[in-house]
Amino acid sequence: MRTPAPLAAGMDCVRFWLGIAMVVALPTTLTVFPPALADDVRGLAAHPPGMEKTHVAPADTPWIRADTAEPIRETADGSSGTAAQEAVSASTPGPEGVDGDFAIRVPDSPGSDEPLRPIPADMGTDPEKVALGRALFHDPRLSRDNTTACVSCHDLGSGGDDGRRVSVGVEGRLGSINAPTVFNVGLQFKQFWDGRANTLQQQIDGPVQSPVELGTLWPDVIEKLYSHESYPGRFQALYPDGISRENAKDALAEFMKSLTTPHSPFDRWLEGEEDAIGALEKRGYALFKHYGCSSCHQGANVGGNMFQVFGVLNDYFRKRGDITEADLGRYNVTGNPEDRHSFKVPSLRMAALTAPYLHDGSAETLRDAVDAMFEYQLGREAPDEDKEAIVAFIESLAGESRELDP
Ligand code: HEC
Ligand code: HEC
Repeated sequence: MRTPAPLAAGMDCVRFWLGIAMVVALPTTLTVFPPALADDVRGLAAHPPGMEKTHVAPADTPWIRADTAEPIRETADGSSGTAAQEAVSASTPGPEGVDGDFAIRVPDSPGSDEPLRPIPADMGTDPEKVALGRALFHDPRLSRDNTTACVSCHDLGSGGDDGRRVSVGVEGRLGSINAPTVFNVGLQFKQFWDGRANTLQQQIDGPVQSPVELGTLWPDVIEKLYSHESYPGRFQALYPDGISRENAKDALAEFMKSLTTPHSPFDRWLEGEEDAIGALEKRGYALFKHYGCSSCHQGANVGGNMFQVFGVLNDYFRKRGDITEADLGRYNVTGNPEDRHSFKVPSLRMAALTAPYLHDGSAETLRDAVDAMFEYQLGREAPDEDKEAIVAFIESLAGESRELDP
């Protein structure tokens, strides 16, 4: 299995693009858990070091070093371009140490080879299973004391997360990490910040049995579901063996797979609707590519397809202090020192709605998160106008779902 790296060389419209083709060459080896462990929650909580090996780009990965950024000094057609193009050329200095005029082209329409892709309109999910999964997702019977449901921390109406720095589970217990949105999770290569679950089915054991989330055990859940008026019939209609842990997980996973957010303004633009986004968002997208954000946040989910160290160019954790186990990220799964502070690159699809940001919830606004990316991932500064345009672009990535606006 390989992670599709949808970037390809030769982006005619954006010739300044950093040596992003390197990403294509990034070998991402995924190893499937042995079946016995895949089904074992304790296995999910703590895989023996070295069990899983996933390549992580070394800290000095050349494609994000500022000194490899090769600016282009003219627009693609040699002219000054549209008003939006001029706005960018006026405000974007070249990378440090590069003199002379520096312009980036902001095309009105996308090129043939963009690093981002539209979200598929149809995930091919089974409507009956989705409906059952939806009921389970909202059902507090999945928690030990019948107080908490998946939706308590993944509020679909407001972006699919809980708006907290870290989550609060049964009996008010505080979690250790920021809750990501569940929207578009079916498009990710792995689940959780540290990627410890390979599939959505596998991921579900985490919250159900975690003492700081739902804090229960499957046999108790199944007993409660059996004594419910409609679950036995609904399960039986879909699964010959009725209610079981596997079937409940299957329905929940099917529901989550259905939680995509297609038709965002940005996607409509990608698909040819020129006015779906304005000049500011177009400029933001051009800058997002120009600064190399899309070397990590890419594909249909604008993220969710690779691991990267947080603090590639500046040591975030030394600066913040109080390093927790959760801060170790992927290292907790692999035990490989290169994976310290490495996380699944989060999807930016619903970022407009899911403050606060970063795995520790330390960035209160989208602007704060973008500032952190410039400081720690890119090791450079950028003018305010550029960062504001990038924020506007990120906001245009949020699409539609009937769950968002039921
Ligand atoms: C107490 C709050 C809480 C509850 C309840 C909860 N979650 Fe989560 N969820 C989280 C947190 C926090 C994370 C991130 C954990 C991590 O990455 O280590 C998460 C991660 C996830 C992810 C992975 C998202 C990603 O981008 O990697 C999925 C999918 C998910 N939860 C689905 C569910 C489902 C399904 C349920 C119900 C069975 C559920 N959650 C219940 C807080 C919660
Ligand atoms: C080297 C890879 C890399 C690059 C380059 C990069 N990011 Fe990130 N980004 C990450 C990782 C990893 C995280 C998660 C860090 C964490 O939470 O510890 C992240 C988190 C974010 C978040 C927070 C998302 C959330 O839901 O918490 C935003 C917003 C973001 N990046 C935007 C950008 C922008 C804008 C740029 C370019 C200026 C950029 N990123 C460049 C890897 C990268």
